[in-house]
Amino acid sequence: MEPAPPAIGVFDSGIGGLSILREIQAQLPGEDLIYFADQAWVPYGSRPLEQVRERAVTVAADLIRRGAKLVVVACNSASAAALHHLRQVYPEVPFVGMEPAVKPAAEHSDRGVVGVLATAATFQGELYASVLDRHANGVEVHEVAAAELAMLVEDGRFTDAKEALRGLLQPLIAAGIDRLVLGCTHYSFLSDEIRAVMGPEVELVDPSAAVARQVGRVLAAKTQPGRNGQIAYLTTGDPARLGSQLAALFGIDAIVQPVELG
Ligand code: DGL
Repeated sequence: MEPAPPAIGVFDSGIGGLSILREIQAQLPGEDLIYFADQAWVPYGSRPLEQVRERAVTVAADLIRRGAKLVVVACNSASAAALHHLRQVYPEVPFVGMEPAVKPAAEHSDRGVVGVLATAATFQGELYASVLDRHANGVEVHEVAAAELAMLVEDGRFTDAKEALRGLLQPLIAAGIDRLVLGCTHYSFLSDEIRAVMGPEVELVDPSAAVARQVGRVLAAKTQPGRNGQIAYLTTGDPARLGSQLAALFGIDAIVQPVELG
């Protein structure tokens, strides 16, 4: 039997990064993917950055040990805390991370007023500051840090999430934004609820497809054409729970392997 080609590792605190995984699978169907949900640690977004940084190194180390040729940090909070550090710790491994998509939002905003919805961790740290510095010139940016939303998505509580969004998004409606950046990968699964609250005038900016394109660019000629890639699902939490989440979100019946990281 041929040895398995190296895979792309994708990680998040939970199911949020599945929004990125789906895009990578659609754009690079020949690639084997390893999805790592660190559900024993979810949520990342309300933890101190140093703690998330250390944990991200542990998770990335596990993916690299499993043969990942590229690691996607499919989590804005972990990218804010650790992306720069991960590149220093593993200079030989390419990392693709997330940053709030202020650039396209600012470029396409007619009113010059945009909103960003993300976790507290994402707004801390240098990455977000540098995003504003580089891309928000002349544009008003209104931020809302959502503490509980990612967990409501993890728990499949979409009605409660919509209720929470009514309060959270009020300041952005009052500010008159016309673009809303989804600054946490879990929020892709709340697009309908967010649209229902914000109304049709406000466009949501979801970076999932752009992140997948970046993965393709980084791999360049090293992609695997003409084959069907496999996906392995791992969790530090309860495999049965991730299995039901995958069934509920995508209607797939996947085998989920437990991981112990200590
Ligand atoms: N999905 C993660 C992000 O993009 C955050 C969820 C969490 O707080 O763990 O920021």
